Amino acid sequence: MKNIKAIIFDAYGTLFDVNSAAEKCKDKIGDKWEGFANYWRTTQLEYTWLRSLMKRHKDFWQVTEESLDKSMKTYEINSSMRNELLDLYKILSTFKEVPEVLKSLKEKNFKLAILSNGTPALLNELVKSNNLENIFDDIFSIEEVGVYKPDSKVYDIPVKKYQIQRNEITFLSANTWDVSGGGNYGYNSIWVNRNSNTFDNLDYLPKHQIEDLSKLLDII
Ligand code: LAC
Repeated sequence: MKNIKAIIFDAYGTLFDVNSAAEKCKDKIGDKWEGFANYWRTTQLEYTWLRSLMKRHKDFWQVTEESLDKSMKTYEINSSMRNELLDLYKILSTFKEVPEVLKSLKEKNFKLAILSNGTPALLNELVKSNNLENIFDDIFSIEEVGVYKPDSKVYDIPVKKYQIQRNEITFLSANTWDVSGGGNYGYNSIWVNRNSNTFDNLDYLPKHQIEDLSKLLDII
Protein backbone atom coordinates (compact mmCIF):
# COMPACT_ATOMS: atom_id res chain seq x y z
CA MET A 1 0.00 0.00 0.00
CA LYS A 2 2.50 2.61 -1.17
CA ASN A 3 1.74 5.92 -2.87
CA ILE A 4 -1.87 5.93 -1.82
CA LYS A 5 -3.48 9.27 -2.61
CA ALA A 6 -7.14 8.56 -2.00
CA ILE A 7 -9.13 6.32 0.29
CA ILE A 8 -12.52 5.56 -1.18
CA PHE A 9 -15.36 3.88 0.66
CA ASP A 10 -18.37 1.99 -0.52
CA ALA A 11 -21.42 3.27 1.40
CA TYR A 12 -24.16 0.69 1.90
CA GLY A 13 -23.00 -2.22 4.03
CA THR A 14 -19.52 -0.75 4.48
CA LEU A 15 -20.08 2.56 6.30
CA PHE A 16 -23.83 2.29 6.82
CA ASP A 17 -25.61 -0.75 8.20
CA VAL A 18 -28.25 -1.72 5.63
CA ASN A 19 -29.96 -4.04 8.11
CA SER A 20 -30.44 -1.27 10.65
CA ALA A 21 -33.76 -0.15 9.10
CA ALA A 22 -35.45 -3.55 9.57
CA GLU A 23 -33.69 -4.07 12.89
CA LYS A 24 -35.29 -0.90 14.27
CA CYS A 25 -38.68 -2.48 13.41
CA LYS A 26 -37.93 -5.91 14.81
CA ASP A 27 -40.60 -5.63 17.51
CA LYS A 28 -43.22 -5.22 14.80
CA ILE A 29 -41.72 -7.62 12.23
CA GLY A 30 -40.75 -10.36 14.68
CA ASP A 31 -38.02 -12.99 14.37
CA LYS A 32 -38.07 -12.97 10.60
CA TRP A 33 -36.69 -9.40 10.53
CA GLU A 34 -33.14 -10.50 9.69
CA GLY A 35 -34.09 -12.92 6.92
CA PHE A 36 -36.32 -10.22 5.50
CA ALA A 37 -33.55 -7.58 5.71
CA ASN A 38 -31.05 -9.86 3.95
CA TYR A 39 -33.60 -10.74 1.25
CA TRP A 40 -34.38 -7.05 0.67
CA ARG A 41 -30.67 -6.26 0.30
CA THR A 42 -30.01 -9.20 -2.04
CA THR A 43 -33.02 -8.32 -4.19
CA GLN A 44 -31.99 -4.66 -4.30
CA LEU A 45 -28.49 -5.60 -5.53
CA GLU A 46 -29.85 -8.07 -8.08
CA TYR A 47 -32.06 -5.32 -9.46
CA THR A 48 -29.04 -3.00 -9.85
CA TRP A 49 -27.11 -5.64 -11.80
CA LEU A 50 -30.11 -6.64 -13.90
CA ARG A 51 -31.07 -3.05 -14.71
CA SER A 52 -27.49 -2.32 -15.80
CA LEU A 53 -27.43 -5.40 -18.03
CA MET A 54 -30.87 -4.61 -19.46
CA LYS A 55 -29.89 -0.94 -19.89
CA ARG A 56 -33.05 0.09 -18.04
CA HIS A 57 -31.61 2.34 -15.38
CA LYS A 58 -33.69 3.52 -12.45
CA ASP A 59 -32.08 5.32 -9.56
CA PHE A 60 -31.16 3.60 -6.30
CA TRP A 61 -34.17 4.91 -4.46
CA GLN A 62 -36.57 3.45 -7.03
CA VAL A 63 -34.66 0.17 -6.93
CA THR A 64 -34.81 0.19 -3.13
CA GLU A 65 -38.59 0.73 -3.18
CA GLU A 66 -39.20 -1.92 -5.84
CA SER A 67 -37.05 -4.49 -4.07
CA LEU A 68 -38.80 -3.67 -0.78
CA ASP A 69 -42.19 -4.33 -2.35
CA LYS A 70 -41.12 -7.78 -3.53
CA SER A 71 -39.49 -8.55 -0.17
CA MET A 72 -42.54 -7.48 1.83
CA LYS A 73 -44.73 -9.77 -0.26
CA THR A 74 -42.29 -12.66 0.04
CA TYR A 75 -41.98 -12.27 3.83
CA GLU A 76 -45.65 -11.34 4.33
CA ILE A 77 -44.83 -8.07 6.06
CA ASN A 78 -47.85 -5.84 6.70
CA SER A 79 -48.03 -3.10 4.07
CA SER A 80 -48.43 -0.48 6.82
CA MET A 81 -44.67 -0.94 7.48
CA ARG A 82 -43.65 0.28 4.03
CA ASN A 83 -43.22 3.99 4.75
CA GLU A 84 -41.56 3.42 8.09
CA LEU A 85 -38.97 1.09 6.54
CA LEU A 86 -38.28 3.51 3.71
CA ASP A 87 -37.93 6.47 6.08
CA LEU A 88 -35.48 4.48 8.20
CA TYR A 89 -33.52 3.50 5.09
CA LYS A 90 -32.81 7.19 4.51
CA ILE A 91 -31.15 7.51 7.90
CA LEU A 92 -29.35 4.17 8.25
CA SER A 93 -26.90 4.07 11.15
CA THR A 94 -23.17 3.71 10.64
CA PHE A 95 -21.39 0.66 12.02
CA LYS A 96 -20.18 1.67 15.45
CA GLU A 97 -16.44 2.19 14.77
CA VAL A 98 -17.02 4.22 11.60
CA PRO A 99 -17.22 7.85 12.87
CA GLU A 100 -14.07 7.53 15.00
CA VAL A 101 -12.04 5.91 12.22
CA LEU A 102 -13.11 8.50 9.66
CA LYS A 103 -12.15 11.30 12.01
CA SER A 104 -8.67 9.79 12.49
CA LEU A 105 -8.21 9.41 8.73
CA LYS A 106 -9.26 12.98 8.19
CA GLU A 107 -6.10 14.08 10.02
CA LYS A 108 -3.92 12.27 7.47
CA ASN A 109 -3.05 13.47 4.03
CA PHE A 110 -5.42 11.47 1.81
CA LYS A 111 -8.43 12.38 -0.22
CA LEU A 112 -11.41 10.73 1.47
CA ALA A 113 -14.45 9.94 -0.61
CA ILE A 114 -17.53 7.76 -0.94
CA LEU A 115 -18.23 5.92 -4.21
CA SER A 116 -21.71 4.46 -4.15
CA ASN A 117 -24.74 3.25 -6.02
CA GLY A 118 -26.81 5.69 -3.92
CA THR A 119 -28.19 8.90 -5.38
CA PRO A 120 -26.49 12.16 -4.34
CA ALA A 121 -29.56 13.10 -2.26
CA LEU A 122 -29.60 9.76 -0.41
CA LEU A 123 -25.87 9.81 0.27
CA ASN A 124 -25.92 13.41 1.48
CA GLU A 125 -28.77 12.62 3.84
CA LEU A 126 -26.97 9.55 5.24
CA VAL A 127 -23.81 11.56 5.82
CA LYS A 128 -25.77 14.39 7.42
CA SER A 129 -27.93 12.22 9.67
CA ASN A 130 -24.76 10.56 11.01
CA ASN A 131 -22.95 13.90 11.55
CA LEU A 132 -20.21 13.13 9.02
CA GLU A 133 -20.58 16.28 6.92
CA ASN A 134 -17.03 17.54 7.32
CA ILE A 135 -15.25 14.28 6.62
CA PHE A 136 -15.41 13.62 2.89
CA ASP A 137 -13.73 15.53 0.09
CA ASP A 138 -16.25 14.06 -2.34
CA ILE A 139 -19.35 11.92 -2.43
CA PHE A 140 -19.39 10.20 -5.80
CA SER A 141 -22.64 8.69 -7.01
CA ILE A 142 -23.11 6.29 -9.92
CA GLU A 143 -25.86 8.66 -11.11
CA GLU A 144 -22.98 10.56 -12.76
CA VAL A 145 -22.57 7.67 -15.23
CA GLY A 146 -26.07 6.13 -15.13
CA VAL A 147 -24.95 2.55 -14.60
CA TYR A 148 -24.39 0.52 -11.43
CA LYS A 149 -21.32 -1.08 -9.92
CA PRO A 150 -19.36 -3.07 -10.95
CA ASP A 151 -19.30 -1.32 -14.35
CA SER A 152 -15.83 0.13 -14.82
CA LYS A 153 -17.38 3.52 -15.68
CA VAL A 154 -18.22 3.79 -11.99
CA TYR A 155 -14.70 3.04 -10.76
CA ASP A 156 -13.41 5.56 -13.34
CA ILE A 157 -15.17 8.43 -11.57
CA PRO A 158 -12.58 9.18 -8.83
CA VAL A 159 -9.63 8.39 -11.12
CA LYS A 160 -10.82 11.06 -13.53
CA LYS A 161 -11.76 13.54 -10.83
CA TYR A 162 -8.43 13.29 -8.96
CA GLN A 163 -6.29 12.66 -12.06
CA ILE A 164 -4.48 9.82 -10.31
CA GLN A 165 -3.57 6.24 -11.18
CA ARG A 166 -5.93 3.40 -10.35
CA ASN A 167 -3.40 1.85 -7.95
CA GLU A 168 -3.11 5.11 -6.04
CA ILE A 169 -6.57 4.42 -4.67
CA THR A 170 -7.35 2.25 -1.68
CA PHE A 171 -10.93 1.08 -1.96
CA LEU A 172 -12.86 -0.40 0.92
CA SER A 173 -16.04 -2.39 0.62
CA ALA A 174 -17.84 -5.00 2.67
CA ASN A 175 -19.47 -6.29 -0.52
CA THR A 176 -17.25 -9.04 -1.93
CA TRP A 177 -18.35 -8.41 -5.54
CA ASP A 178 -17.55 -4.70 -5.15
CA VAL A 179 -14.09 -5.52 -3.78
CA SER A 180 -13.60 -7.68 -6.89
CA GLY A 181 -15.05 -5.01 -9.16
CA GLY A 182 -12.73 -2.32 -7.83
CA GLY A 183 -9.77 -4.72 -7.63
CA ASN A 184 -10.15 -6.01 -11.18
CA TYR A 185 -10.37 -2.39 -12.29
CA GLY A 186 -6.99 -1.68 -10.67
CA TYR A 187 -7.70 -0.31 -7.21
CA ASN A 188 -6.05 -1.70 -4.11
CA SER A 189 -9.18 -3.22 -2.69
CA ILE A 190 -9.65 -4.09 0.95
CA TRP A 191 -12.46 -6.35 2.07
CA VAL A 192 -14.26 -5.36 5.24
CA ASN A 193 -15.34 -8.82 6.30
CA ARG A 194 -17.52 -8.13 9.32
CA ASN A 195 -19.17 -11.56 9.49
CA SER A 196 -16.37 -14.04 8.71
CA ASN A 197 -17.76 -14.75 5.26
CA THR A 198 -16.09 -16.48 2.31
CA PHE A 199 -14.66 -14.43 -0.54
CA ASP A 200 -15.76 -14.73 -4.17
CA ASN A 201 -14.01 -16.45 -7.08
CA LEU A 202 -13.98 -13.48 -9.43
CA ASP A 203 -10.31 -13.19 -10.47
CA TYR A 204 -9.27 -10.90 -7.63
CA LEU A 205 -8.10 -11.45 -4.10
CA PRO A 206 -8.30 -8.48 -1.73
CA LYS A 207 -5.02 -6.82 -0.74
CA HIS A 208 -6.17 -7.04 2.86
CA GLN A 209 -9.10 -8.39 4.77
CA ILE A 210 -10.17 -6.59 7.93
CA GLU A 211 -12.96 -7.35 10.34
CA ASP A 212 -13.93 -3.73 10.80
CA LEU A 213 -12.71 -0.32 9.67
CA SER A 214 -10.60 0.33 12.75
CA LYS A 215 -8.03 -2.16 11.39
CA LEU A 216 -7.48 0.12 8.42
CA LEU A 217 -5.47 2.45 10.64
CA ASP A 218 -2.83 -0.33 11.11
CA ILE A 219 -2.49 -0.85 7.35
CA ILE A 220 -2.09 2.60 5.89
C1 LAC B 1 -23.01 0.96 -2.65
C2 LAC B 1 -23.54 -0.44 -2.52
C3 LAC B 1 -22.86 -1.38 -3.39
O1 LAC B 1 -23.03 1.75 -1.69
O2 LAC B 1 -23.38 -0.92 -1.24
O3 LAC B 1 -22.58 1.27 -3.77
